[in-house]
Amino acid sequence: MTSQNEQQNGSSPASKRAWAAGHVGNRVTVVLGAQWGDEGKGKVVDMLATSADLVCRCQGGNNAGHTVVVDDMEYDFHLLPSGIINPKAISFIGNGVVIHLPGLFEEAEKNEKKGLKNWDKRLVISDRAHIVFDFHQAVDGMQEMQRQKDSGKNLGTTKKGIGPVYAAKASRSGLRVCDLLADFDDFSRRFEALVKQYRSMYPGLEVDTTSQLQELKVYSERIRPMVRDGIYFMYEVLHGPPKKILVEGANAAMLDIDFGTYPFVTSSNCTVGGVLTGLGIPAQNVGEVYGVVKAYTTRVGVGAFPTEQSNETGELLQTRGHEFGVTTGRKRRCGWLDLVLLRYAHMINGFTALALTKLDILDALDEIKVGVSYKVDEKPIPYFPANMEVLNKVHVDYVTLPGWKTGIDKLRSFDELPVNAQNYICFIEKHLGVPIKWVGVGKDRESMIRLF
Ligand code: GDP
Ligand code: IMO
Ligand code: MG
Repeated sequence: MTSQNEQQNGSSPASKRAWAAGHVGNRVTVVLGAQWGDEGKGKVVDMLATSADLVCRCQGGNNAGHTVVVDDMEYDFHLLPSGIINPKAISFIGNGVVIHLPGLFEEAEKNEKKGLKNWDKRLVISDRAHIVFDFHQAVDGMQEMQRQKDSGKNLGTTKKGIGPVYAAKASRSGLRVCDLLADFDDFSRRFEALVKQYRSMYPGLEVDTTSQLQELKVYSERIRPMVRDGIYFMYEVLHGPPKKILVEGANAAMLDIDFGTYPFVTSSNCTVGGVLTGLGIPAQNVGEVYGVVKAYTTRVGVGAFPTEQSNETGELLQTRGHEFGVTTGRKRRCGWLDLVLLRYAHMINGFTALALTKLDILDALDEIKVGVSYKVDEKPIPYFPANMEVLNKVHVDYVTLPGWKTGIDKLRSFDELPVNAQNYICFIEKHLGVPIKWVGVGKDRESMIRLF
């Protein structure tokens, strides 16, 4: 038996090897979109960020549009983590994010006018993040036109250059923040070579290389104080004193490049794996994974949408929910909640709890339908199909639940909610086997009911 003395002195065999028990360090709390985006991630992140030390973005670019409403002021974030609104929090843009520098400053300055303070002193940017150039955005538009011409169908991208820049990353011709901050002559040469390569692929592409490089030189000096080696930065935060760390997912499960409704998806992993690769952190540092679910379903852009309601119900949801894209202003397509899709998103992400948003939008409905299973050619299919031809022809079986026909936006507890609203929440929880932790009943920070 080891004596107390031996233990305190660290001379017992067990204490000599104490390090081997493994110190996991701080864990990150992840917030992810569970549908086709615009679930209200910005609002959930803002709520959690009021007590966070660090808020991170790990993937996507300024294709995201996250709305935060505080004291009647509406902020929208595209590249900056929404948690930057909390004046005490540090924000981090990880290596998995693609950064359009003019877009970043434009967004920050727009929000500064609304009251965002000291953002540049609180922003850290990974040196491994890839840079989106203006020509990537131009190419995004050209590719969309070409798709339309070739097949009569485009993808409905945000034209923020996301596809082209992730393609450049994968084909190893992309340029990163660390390249911009190193030898500018070398960066200029590589930029010119990249432009040449794109011009050969897109003869109509116009790039004023000289003025682009002049602009980039100015941006490089503006971001220099913010740039860090992202891996060491995250490691220090994870293994330093206790810290509350949030990760704000952009886009959503059904837009994920691997798991979404391919090819009508974005170009990054918007599911939990993207958190690890987009920040460079180990799996054991992932703690809670919160899925954000809109109480109905919306989609911007093209692609299959089994529970879409191209009718009065869809219009009512669109109008009551003010369903317009934050990034592009496009009308969002609307339909019923789809539990087949949500089960699939949960299989990939392992949600530990959900935030159900925009329940107040359903206040006006007599009855509410929920998609619970799919059939193809009269036969039930117990999975979410990979093939878009199949997904396009699924027949959805619905369960119809009674509405509550009363305003819930001022309510702040589960017990106060009408019984039918409570039943709607419980039905979703039971079907998915995931607890709902918060219910959104309005746009602003306070309009949230905490269930446990
Ligand atoms: P995100 O991309 O997931 O952050 O979501 P968006 O900001 O693009 O879209 C969500 C919209 O719904 C925003 O306008 C939010 O202000 C709004 N919103 C979020 N939660 C609620 C809610 O519970 N009720 C209502 N009425 N609006 C909400
Ligand atoms: P947030 O973070 C909704 C969609 C686009 C398009 C497809 C590909 O606000 O939830 P891209 O420009 O990424 O190549 O477009 O993905 N899309 C989104 N839809 N919300 C988003 O982000 C989206 N990000 C991309 O509409 O159909
Ligand atoms: Mg959005």
